[in-house]
Amino acid sequence: MVELTLPKNSKVRQGKVWPKPEGATNLREYKVYRWSPDDGENPRIDTYYVDMDDCGPMVLDGLLWIKDHIDPTLTFRRSCREGICGSCAMNIDGTNTLACTKGMDEISSDVKIYPLPHMPVVKDLVPDLSVPYAQLSSIKPWLQTVSPEPAKEWKQSHEDRSKLDGLYECILCFCCQTSCPSYWWNGERYLGPAVLLQAYRWLIDSRDEKTGERLDNLEDPFRLYRCHTIMNCTQACPKGLNPAKAIAEIKQMMVERRV
Ligand code: SF4
Ligand code: SF4
Ligand code: FES
Repeated sequence: MVELTLPKNSKVRQGKVWPKPEGATNLREYKVYRWSPDDGENPRIDTYYVDMDDCGPMVLDGLLWIKDHIDPTLTFRRSCREGICGSCAMNIDGTNTLACTKGMDEISSDVKIYPLPHMPVVKDLVPDLSVPYAQLSSIKPWLQTVSPEPAKEWKQSHEDRSKLDGLYECILCFCCQTSCPSYWWNGERYLGPAVLLQAYRWLIDSRDEKTGERLDNLEDPFRLYRCHTIMNCTQACPKGLNPAKAIAEIKQMMVERRV
């Protein structure tokens, strides 16, 4: 997996070291990024000690334990705890991943946690995802048809359905999006790997009848062609998907419609 770390000139400072839980003997050290828009301070790294005899095995379990037992102000997103909702995406031990599916036993030293990189921070581990969500909306991620509505359902062969495998599983966690250097530098104009994977998912859906318009919408030096096949996205995906391949397939479709 691609590792992302803070630059040497980072203004992130050492924060509070919270007391060890009384009587606990099996401790795990967490170093967690903290930043609040309300106090005017630079970001800091707080240190917490989690009682492993009283806590589940995943990184998210540790964060919940800290919030419940030490510091209720620690702010992060989570919902399903099953790797399905995508909301607990964060940078753990230098890689973008899901806190609920990352085991503490996969990390050899202290557990270092930052928000997803290169996004504005709302608070602590919560990134502002309004730009990628607006980009997702711009590719119209829903079935578009012009034929009269069938009486029962839009049918699809098993073969056509299987073309969606490796795409429909995307949970929109944006681990890939925020590990892409092209997206870091051109995030306002380049759609990024998560959004382009979604675009491809609708381009190859046999039931969709707006393929031409969808390709027109992507035919742009920035929206699609800022992907330089660096492959960070594919390495980062916690669901094992391959956004770089989906982007290459879109480029291929562009070429094919020109000939
Ligand atoms: S392959 Fe493309 S989308 Fe993926 S990280 Fe590289 S530049 Fe970004
Ligand atoms: S492709 Fe993978 S990393 Fe990217 S948003 Fe979807 S599930 Fe997350
Ligand atoms: S809490 Fe839903 S993916 Fe982690």
